[in-house]
Amino acid sequence: MWGPEGLDEVEAELLGPPEDLKGKDVLEIGAGAAQCSRWLSAQGARPVALDISHRQLQHALRIGGAFPLVCADAGALPFADASFDLACSAYGALPFVADPVLVLREVRRVLRPGGRFVFSVTHPIRWAFPDEPGPEGLSVSASYFDRTPYVEQDDEGRAVYVEHHRTVGDRVRDVVAAGFRLVDLVEPQWPAWNTSEWGGWSPLRGNLIPGTAIFVCVRD
Ligand SMILES: C[S@@+](CC[C@H](N)C(=O)[O-])C[C@H]1O[C@@H](n2cnc3c(N)ncnc32)[C@H](O)[C@@H]1O
Repeated sequence: MWGPEGLDEVEAELLGPPEDLKGKDVLEIGAGAAQCSRWLSAQGARPVALDISHRQLQHALRIGGAFPLVCADAGALPFADASFDLACSAYGALPFVADPVLVLREVRRVLRPGGRFVFSVTHPIRWAFPDEPGPEGLSVSASYFDRTPYVEQDDEGRAVYVEHHRTVGDRVRDVVAAGFRLVDLVEPQWPAWNTSEWGGWSPLRGNLIPGTAIFVCVRD
């Protein structure tokens, strides 16, 4: 699943036709509970699920799957050059790092020539709107161009949640600066079957403004 709209890889085929996934080495970045790796493994691929959070990987372990779980920072991947055929990330790591080019360079390094990296992030336009599912979430309240990160702090003033904003242009430049060729930018439309409301996500907003941006990159 690439994002809250519900676009899944069976429908999107952004990593290529499912039958071609068989036997492929795939790195999942910011895997969380490793849902994508579990699906990839069921297609006959050989996924490795990586996340910086030990707690998330404990959930992945509890749910199960016959693939390795790796606790590491996406900006310092513990793999040799050219170890993977494909890489993917559904909202993993990239929205949360101050230096996305570092992560993109690392992913490019561990991909074999011809390999693809497909990643989804919050669509940059969402930065300008309140994170509300109702009509209040439809009026611009902040500058799209303001790159100040969103930060939540604990009682001691330590940052416990940080999300970094990049404009669409920033994301394209990041991909190119890391040496990738951008082959597609997918903006999934909210489908009629999805009636769920969750956080700032809703059919009302989803029908009017994009919520997810999926970048399809190739390492030539
Ligand atoms: C929004 S969750 C997405 C999880 C999963 N991909 C999914 O679709 O449900 C973001 C994940 O990125 C991980 N993450 C954040 N920064 C990271 C980093 N620098 N390196 C690796 N993982 C990171 C978080 O721990 C979290 O599990």
